[in-house]
Amino acid sequence: MSVMDRGFLFGDGVYEVIPVYSRRPFRLEQHLERLQQSLDGIQLANPHAAEAWRALITQLVREAAWDDQSVYIQVTRGPMTVRNQAFPADTTPTVFLMTEAMASPTPAQLEEGVAAISAVDIRWLRCDLKTTSLLANCLLRQYAVAAGCAEAVLFRDGYLTEGSVSSIFVVKDGVLLAPIKNHLMLPGITYDVILELAVEHGLAVTVRDISEAETRGADELWLASSTREVQAIVSLDGSPVGLAGQTGRPGAIFLAMQAWYQDYKAGGMRNV
Ligand code: PDD
Repeated sequence: MSVMDRGFLFGDGVYEVIPVYSRRPFRLEQHLERLQQSLDGIQLANPHAAEAWRALITQLVREAAWDDQSVYIQVTRGPMTVRNQAFPADTTPTVFLMTEAMASPTPAQLEEGVAAISAVDIRWLRCDLKTTSLLANCLLRQYAVAAGCAEAVLFRDGYLTEGSVSSIFVVKDGVLLAPIKNHLMLPGITYDVILELAVEHGLAVTVRDISEAETRGADELWLASSTREVQAIVSLDGSPVGLAGQTGRPGAIFLAMQAWYQDYKAGGMRNV
Protein backbone atom coordinates (compact mmCIF):
# COMPACT_ATOMS: atom_id res chain seq x y z
CA MET A 1 0.00 0.00 0.00
CA SER A 2 1.24 3.49 -0.85
CA VAL A 3 1.90 5.93 2.00
CA MET A 4 -0.19 8.33 -0.12
CA ASP A 5 -3.21 6.10 0.45
CA ARG A 6 -6.13 8.22 1.63
CA GLY A 7 -6.91 5.56 4.22
CA PHE A 8 -3.46 6.11 5.73
CA LEU A 9 -3.36 9.92 5.48
CA PHE A 10 -7.02 10.78 6.16
CA GLY A 11 -8.71 7.66 7.55
CA ASP A 12 -10.74 7.82 4.33
CA GLY A 13 -12.11 4.31 4.33
CA VAL A 14 -14.62 1.89 5.81
CA TYR A 15 -14.40 -1.56 7.36
CA GLU A 16 -16.29 -4.56 8.69
CA VAL A 17 -15.54 -7.19 11.33
CA ILE A 18 -17.32 -10.50 10.70
CA PRO A 19 -17.28 -13.27 13.30
CA VAL A 20 -16.79 -16.79 11.96
CA TYR A 21 -17.80 -19.85 13.97
CA SER A 22 -16.84 -23.35 12.85
CA ARG A 23 -15.59 -21.66 9.62
CA ARG A 24 -19.08 -20.26 8.93
CA PRO A 25 -19.39 -16.47 8.73
CA PHE A 26 -22.10 -15.21 11.11
CA ARG A 27 -24.72 -12.91 9.51
CA LEU A 28 -22.54 -12.33 6.44
CA GLU A 29 -25.39 -10.83 4.38
CA GLN A 30 -26.03 -8.18 7.04
CA HIS A 31 -22.32 -7.33 7.31
CA LEU A 32 -22.07 -6.94 3.53
CA GLU A 33 -25.19 -4.76 3.53
CA ARG A 34 -23.73 -2.54 6.24
CA LEU A 35 -20.46 -2.33 4.27
CA GLN A 36 -22.50 -1.06 1.32
CA GLN A 37 -24.21 1.54 3.55
CA SER A 38 -20.83 2.72 4.87
CA LEU A 39 -19.45 2.97 1.30
CA ASP A 40 -22.55 4.88 0.17
CA GLY A 41 -22.11 7.19 3.17
CA ILE A 42 -18.60 8.17 2.06
CA GLN A 43 -19.49 8.19 -1.66
CA LEU A 44 -17.18 5.35 -2.59
CA ALA A 45 -18.23 2.75 -5.16
CA ASN A 46 -18.17 -0.82 -3.88
CA PRO A 47 -15.16 -2.48 -5.54
CA HIS A 48 -16.84 -5.90 -5.40
CA ALA A 49 -20.29 -7.36 -5.88
CA ALA A 50 -21.62 -9.34 -2.91
CA GLU A 51 -20.78 -12.61 -4.69
CA ALA A 52 -17.13 -11.59 -5.07
CA TRP A 53 -16.92 -10.54 -1.40
CA ARG A 54 -18.38 -13.89 -0.39
CA ALA A 55 -15.79 -15.72 -2.51
CA LEU A 56 -12.89 -13.74 -1.03
CA ILE A 57 -14.10 -14.29 2.52
CA THR A 58 -14.73 -18.00 1.92
CA GLN A 59 -11.21 -18.47 0.61
CA LEU A 60 -9.67 -16.55 3.51
CA VAL A 61 -11.63 -18.51 6.10
CA ARG A 62 -10.83 -21.83 4.47
CA GLU A 63 -7.08 -21.19 4.38
CA ALA A 64 -6.77 -19.93 7.96
CA ALA A 65 -5.61 -22.09 10.84
CA TRP A 66 -8.59 -21.58 13.15
CA ASP A 67 -12.22 -22.74 13.10
CA ASP A 68 -13.43 -19.65 14.96
CA GLN A 69 -12.16 -16.44 13.39
CA SER A 70 -12.69 -12.74 13.14
CA VAL A 71 -12.56 -11.58 9.53
CA TYR A 72 -11.60 -7.95 8.94
CA ILE A 73 -12.27 -6.24 5.62
CA GLN A 74 -11.32 -2.69 4.75
CA VAL A 75 -11.84 -0.51 1.69
CA THR A 76 -10.12 2.86 1.40
CA ARG A 77 -10.45 5.47 -1.35
CA GLY A 78 -6.94 4.47 -2.41
CA PRO A 79 -3.76 6.38 -3.23
CA MET A 80 -3.57 10.02 -4.40
CA THR A 81 -0.67 11.69 -6.19
CA VAL A 82 -0.88 15.02 -4.32
CA ARG A 83 -2.11 15.41 -0.75
CA ASN A 84 -5.56 16.97 -1.08
CA GLN A 85 -8.61 16.42 1.11
CA ALA A 86 -10.97 16.66 -1.89
CA PHE A 87 -11.50 13.38 -3.71
CA PRO A 88 -9.23 12.86 -6.75
CA ALA A 89 -11.12 12.42 -10.04
CA ASP A 90 -9.93 8.85 -10.47
CA THR A 91 -9.09 6.64 -7.55
CA THR A 92 -8.53 2.94 -7.25
CA PRO A 93 -9.81 1.71 -3.90
CA THR A 94 -7.44 -0.26 -1.71
CA VAL A 95 -9.03 -3.50 -0.53
CA PHE A 96 -7.59 -5.34 2.45
CA LEU A 97 -8.81 -8.51 4.11
CA MET A 98 -7.33 -10.39 7.04
CA THR A 99 -8.48 -12.94 9.52
CA GLU A 100 -7.45 -13.45 13.11
CA ALA A 101 -8.18 -16.14 15.66
CA MET A 102 -11.48 -15.26 17.33
CA ALA A 103 -10.79 -13.89 20.81
CA SER A 104 -14.06 -15.09 22.32
CA PRO A 105 -15.19 -13.75 25.70
CA THR A 106 -13.67 -15.70 28.58
CA PRO A 107 -15.90 -17.81 30.86
CA ALA A 108 -15.13 -15.29 33.66
CA GLN A 109 -16.30 -12.38 31.50
CA LEU A 110 -19.52 -14.20 30.63
CA GLU A 111 -20.25 -15.51 34.12
CA GLU A 112 -19.10 -12.63 36.31
CA GLY A 113 -19.63 -9.66 34.02
CA VAL A 114 -17.33 -6.73 33.36
CA ALA A 115 -16.68 -3.22 34.64
CA ALA A 116 -17.32 -0.08 32.58
CA ILE A 117 -16.58 3.61 32.90
CA SER A 118 -18.71 6.43 31.52
CA ALA A 119 -17.39 9.05 29.11
CA VAL A 120 -18.65 11.92 27.01
CA ASP A 121 -19.17 10.77 23.43
CA ILE A 122 -16.57 12.94 21.68
CA ARG A 123 -17.03 11.33 18.25
CA TRP A 124 -18.38 12.96 15.09
CA LEU A 125 -22.00 13.04 13.92
CA ARG A 126 -21.83 10.09 11.50
CA CYS A 127 -21.26 7.26 13.96
CA ASP A 128 -23.65 5.18 11.82
CA LEU A 129 -20.83 4.73 9.29
CA LYS A 130 -18.22 2.10 10.08
CA THR A 131 -15.25 4.19 9.00
CA THR A 132 -11.57 3.57 9.71
CA SER A 133 -11.33 7.10 11.22
CA LEU A 134 -11.35 5.60 14.70
CA LEU A 135 -9.16 7.95 16.73
CA ALA A 136 -11.97 9.03 19.07
CA ASN A 137 -12.95 5.38 19.61
CA CYS A 138 -9.29 4.53 20.31
CA LEU A 139 -8.99 7.34 22.88
CA LEU A 140 -12.22 6.27 24.57
CA ARG A 141 -11.28 2.61 24.59
CA GLN A 142 -7.86 3.43 26.05
CA TYR A 143 -9.54 5.59 28.70
CA ALA A 144 -11.51 2.50 29.74
CA VAL A 145 -8.48 0.21 29.69
CA ALA A 146 -6.41 2.67 31.76
CA ALA A 147 -9.20 2.61 34.35
CA GLY A 148 -9.15 -1.21 34.40
CA CYS A 149 -12.50 -1.37 32.58
CA ALA A 150 -13.74 -3.45 29.68
CA GLU A 151 -15.66 -0.65 28.00
CA ALA A 152 -16.48 3.07 28.00
CA VAL A 153 -20.24 3.74 28.06
CA LEU A 154 -20.82 6.90 26.04
CA PHE A 155 -23.31 9.70 26.66
CA ARG A 156 -24.07 12.59 24.32
CA ASP A 157 -26.16 15.51 25.55
CA GLY A 158 -27.41 13.45 28.48
CA TYR A 159 -28.39 10.37 26.45
CA LEU A 160 -26.83 6.94 25.99
CA THR A 161 -25.35 6.34 22.53
CA GLU A 162 -23.24 3.15 22.68
CA GLY A 163 -19.83 1.90 23.85
CA SER A 164 -16.44 2.74 22.32
CA VAL A 165 -16.48 -0.64 20.53
CA SER A 166 -19.91 -2.12 21.31
CA SER A 167 -23.66 -1.52 21.50
CA ILE A 168 -25.17 -0.93 24.95
CA PHE A 169 -28.54 -2.13 26.31
CA VAL A 170 -30.44 -1.32 29.50
CA VAL A 171 -32.93 -3.56 31.32
CA LYS A 172 -35.48 -1.80 33.53
CA ASP A 173 -38.53 -3.35 35.19
CA GLY A 174 -38.29 -6.43 33.00
CA VAL A 175 -38.14 -4.46 29.73
CA LEU A 176 -35.15 -4.46 27.40
CA LEU A 177 -34.39 -0.88 26.37
CA ALA A 178 -32.27 -0.18 23.28
CA PRO A 179 -31.17 3.20 21.91
CA ILE A 180 -32.70 4.23 18.57
CA LYS A 181 -30.48 3.52 15.58
CA ASN A 182 -29.57 6.89 14.16
CA HIS A 183 -26.49 8.86 13.09
CA LEU A 184 -25.14 8.81 16.66
CA MET A 185 -24.50 5.06 16.83
CA LEU A 186 -23.38 2.15 14.70
CA PRO A 187 -26.26 -0.06 13.58
CA GLY A 188 -24.83 -3.14 15.27
CA ILE A 189 -25.38 -6.56 13.74
CA THR A 190 -25.31 -8.10 17.24
CA TYR A 191 -27.79 -5.39 18.35
CA ASP A 192 -30.22 -6.76 15.75
CA VAL A 193 -29.62 -10.35 16.85
CA ILE A 194 -30.35 -9.43 20.47
CA LEU A 195 -33.57 -7.59 19.63
CA GLU A 196 -34.71 -10.49 17.43
CA LEU A 197 -33.98 -13.02 20.19
CA ALA A 198 -35.83 -10.89 22.75
CA VAL A 199 -38.93 -10.71 20.55
CA GLU A 200 -38.75 -14.42 19.72
CA HIS A 201 -38.60 -15.35 23.42
CA GLY A 202 -41.30 -12.94 24.56
CA LEU A 203 -39.06 -10.42 26.34
CA ALA A 204 -40.60 -6.94 26.17
CA VAL A 205 -38.47 -4.56 24.09
CA THR A 206 -38.64 -0.78 23.78
CA VAL A 207 -36.41 1.12 21.35
CA ARG A 208 -36.18 4.73 22.47
CA ASP A 209 -33.86 7.44 23.76
CA ILE A 210 -32.34 6.38 27.09
CA SER A 211 -31.18 9.08 29.48
CA GLU A 212 -27.94 8.99 31.42
CA ALA A 213 -29.95 8.81 34.68
CA GLU A 214 -31.89 5.78 33.39
CA THR A 215 -28.64 4.11 32.38
CA ARG A 216 -27.16 4.69 35.84
CA GLY A 217 -30.37 3.40 37.44
CA ALA A 218 -30.55 0.30 35.22
CA ASP A 219 -31.53 -3.05 36.68
CA GLU A 220 -29.14 -4.58 34.15
CA LEU A 221 -26.64 -3.13 31.69
CA TRP A 222 -25.27 -5.13 28.75
CA LEU A 223 -22.70 -4.63 26.03
CA ALA A 224 -22.74 -6.47 22.71
CA SER A 225 -20.61 -6.79 19.61
CA SER A 226 -19.52 -9.30 17.00
CA THR A 227 -16.39 -10.21 18.94
CA ARG A 228 -17.67 -9.73 22.50
CA GLU A 229 -21.07 -11.35 21.95
CA VAL A 230 -23.25 -10.23 24.88
CA GLN A 231 -21.77 -9.45 28.28
CA ALA A 232 -23.20 -8.03 31.51
CA ILE A 233 -21.76 -4.73 32.74
CA VAL A 234 -21.81 -5.18 36.52
CA SER A 235 -20.26 -1.88 37.54
CA LEU A 236 -20.35 1.61 36.08
CA ASP A 237 -17.88 4.20 37.38
CA GLY A 238 -17.23 1.92 40.34
CA SER A 239 -20.89 1.67 41.38
CA PRO A 240 -22.53 -1.75 41.18
CA VAL A 241 -25.23 -2.06 38.53
CA GLY A 242 -28.50 -3.66 39.49
CA LEU A 243 -31.41 -4.09 41.79
CA ALA A 244 -30.73 -3.50 45.46
CA GLY A 245 -29.73 -6.72 47.15
CA GLN A 246 -28.56 -8.36 43.95
CA THR A 247 -26.17 -5.78 42.55
CA GLY A 248 -22.82 -6.42 40.95
CA ARG A 249 -23.81 -9.77 39.42
CA PRO A 250 -25.13 -10.53 35.93
CA GLY A 251 -28.92 -10.29 36.09
CA ALA A 252 -31.55 -12.95 35.40
CA ILE A 253 -32.57 -11.47 32.05
CA PHE A 254 -28.94 -11.31 30.96
CA LEU A 255 -28.51 -14.99 31.83
CA ALA A 256 -31.55 -15.83 29.71
CA MET A 257 -30.27 -13.74 26.78
CA GLN A 258 -26.84 -15.30 27.07
CA ALA A 259 -28.39 -18.77 26.78
CA TRP A 260 -30.58 -17.69 23.82
CA TYR A 261 -27.53 -16.16 22.11
CA GLN A 262 -25.33 -19.25 22.54
CA ASP A 263 -28.20 -21.42 21.37
CA TYR A 264 -28.76 -19.24 18.32
CA LYS A 265 -25.05 -19.35 17.47
CA ALA A 266 -24.98 -23.14 17.77
CA GLY A 267 -28.26 -23.51 15.85
CA GLY A 268 -27.01 -21.28 13.06
CA MET A 269 -23.97 -23.45 12.79
CA ARG A 270 -26.10 -26.57 12.58
CA ASN A 271 -28.51 -25.15 10.04
CA VAL A 272 -26.14 -23.56 7.53
N1 PDD B 1 -16.92 -3.00 16.56
N2 PDD B 1 -20.52 0.20 18.15
C1 PDD B 1 -19.23 0.40 17.87
C2 PDD B 1 -18.66 1.76 18.02
C3 PDD B 1 -18.44 -0.68 17.41
O1 PDD B 1 -17.14 -0.47 17.11
C4 PDD B 1 -19.02 -1.97 17.30
C5 PDD B 1 -18.26 -3.16 16.83
C6 PDD B 1 -20.38 -2.12 17.63
C7 PDD B 1 -21.09 -3.45 17.51
O2 PDD B 1 -21.35 -3.77 16.17
P1 PDD B 1 -21.49 -5.28 15.68
O3 PDD B 1 -22.49 -5.91 16.56
O4 PDD B 1 -21.94 -5.17 14.28
O5 PDD B 1 -20.12 -5.93 15.84
C8 PDD B 1 -21.10 -1.01 18.04
C9 PDD B 1 -16.11 -4.00 15.91
C10 PDD B 1 -16.24 -5.36 16.46
C11 PDD B 1 -14.67 -3.49 15.84
O6 PDD B 1 -14.51 -2.34 15.49
O7 PDD B 1 -13.75 -4.26 16.07
